Amino acid sequence: MLRRGSRRGPGARGAAVLAALTLAATAAAAIPAQAAGSTLQDAANDRGRYFGTAIAANRLSDSTYSTIANREFDMITAENEMKMDATEPSQNQFNYTNGDRIVNWALQNGKQVRGHALAWHSQQPGWMQNMSGTALRNAMLNHVTQVATHYRGKIYAWDVVNEAFADGSSGARRDSNLQRTGNDWIEAAFRAARAADPGAKLCYNDYNTDDWTHAKTQAVYNMVRDFKARGVPIDCVGLQSHFNAQSPVPSNYQTTLSSFAALGVDVQITELDIEGSGSAQAESYRRVVQACLNVSRCTGITVWGVRDTDSWRASGTPLLFDGQGNKKAAYTAVLDTLNSGPGTNPTTPPPTSPPPTTPPPVTPPPTTPPPTTPPPVTPPPSGTCSAALTIANSWGGGYQATVTVRAGSSALNGWRVTLPGGVTTSNLWNGVLAGSVVTNAPYNGSVGAGQSTSFGFIGNGSAPAAGALSCS
Ligand code: G3I
Repeated sequence: MLRRGSRRGPGARGAAVLAALTLAATAAAAIPAQAAGSTLQDAANDRGRYFGTAIAANRLSDSTYSTIANREFDMITAENEMKMDATEPSQNQFNYTNGDRIVNWALQNGKQVRGHALAWHSQQPGWMQNMSGTALRNAMLNHVTQVATHYRGKIYAWDVVNEAFADGSSGARRDSNLQRTGNDWIEAAFRAARAADPGAKLCYNDYNTDDWTHAKTQAVYNMVRDFKARGVPIDCVGLQSHFNAQSPVPSNYQTTLSSFAALGVDVQITELDIEGSGSAQAESYRRVVQACLNVSRCTGITVWGVRDTDSWRASGTPLLFDGQGNKKAAYTAVLDTLNSGPGTNPTTPPPTSPPPTTPPPVTPPPTTPPPTTPPPVTPPPSGTCSAALTIANSWGGGYQATVTVRAGSSALNGWRVTLPGGVTTSNLWNGVLAGSVVTNAPYNGSVGAGQSTSFGFIGNGSAPAAGALSCS
């Protein structure tokens, strides 16, 4: 079920690294070199990030494919199986067969899932393509609610709305039947998704939004800024990042990532593929990975398929494995960059500054004796933090739980959640476990007022009751 039984989330790995560094420094011993990750997921986890792929349900029976997918990736997106035409082929008749196959495969192998996609002008079922106005708006909201509810607790992040902006220089919304129901259709979809699955990060996802100077990028940026200002629930922006000779990795790609991140959302590279071969392709992949590493809120990278032959544009050989499943130069470039590239690394401490050449001033001891009574302890403001545990999935001998940590009326700068008594875990992500207490990972301690984040774990034995947990 769990690969190698020892996989830990990026937070736990980061804590282990920090602990090792602290111990080594205390003993004035040489800091042991950190072992390089030998798979994409391990190397990414060491940098506090995930590394994902898109999966097609009908390829999971191909053992070359599933072996690579299981070994290398820890975030899974259904390539087509969770889209509107797949999940609601007839109005109000939902079909989760293939979506569930992928989600269950991911969770049973200790991976997380990106949901793709709840509302989109494309790949709509026939019945929806012919709808308009209030009937379409209500059908879309019902779809968002039903699908997000079905997968509640199992999704790390949802692409709530996909590809809603026009290409070219207009900076306008894309014309579609959904857009014609009113400009507020996107925020309505986000609100419905939040209500249905409060634990999932909610993303806006698009392509051709990689170049910071493009009108489409600016238009999406302005929408996200407006959503944040008005409290529309949005947590992340997905940059699909489909690149080729006509649309290469832009020189300002990192500026795009950091600019979105500065709005207070995570940034995820959601469908990366780069047509080409050899060292040129490898260099492009290296630049994308390095840009993500340089932006602390770039939380992970997903490539859009496993082998070149699995790609939606197979003739462009855009992926990290060739048709036989061999690692390409692009794979090595990605792995090496994750393992050794410079840049922001939220799981390792910042570089220590060189020792000062002059001795630091010695602070004289206080001339007044310390107070004999302890200073009053200011209790933390009540209600600043709440935590709720839900069980996403369970099976004989184990379960997957999600804990949503929510800030009250003031922002959190770090959080601690106590797990229910008797809980033992074999894999925990997006948090750091010590005994029965989970503290935030380096990258998710800041939670804005009224906002939430979440962590998850695989528990051993019977699942505890869902409900509130102690949070501070
Ligand atoms: O499964 C049927 C098969 O039974 C049939 O014989 C065959 C005939 O054409 O079609 C098969 O379905 C195809 C499906 O992929 C599975 O291979 C569809 O025609 C085809 O349209 C579909 O393409 C998908 C495309 O989205 C549709 O928009 C690609 O696989 C998928 O990679 C692609 O993914 C999109 C993201 O969702 C959004 N961003 C862009 C990205 C690339 O286009």
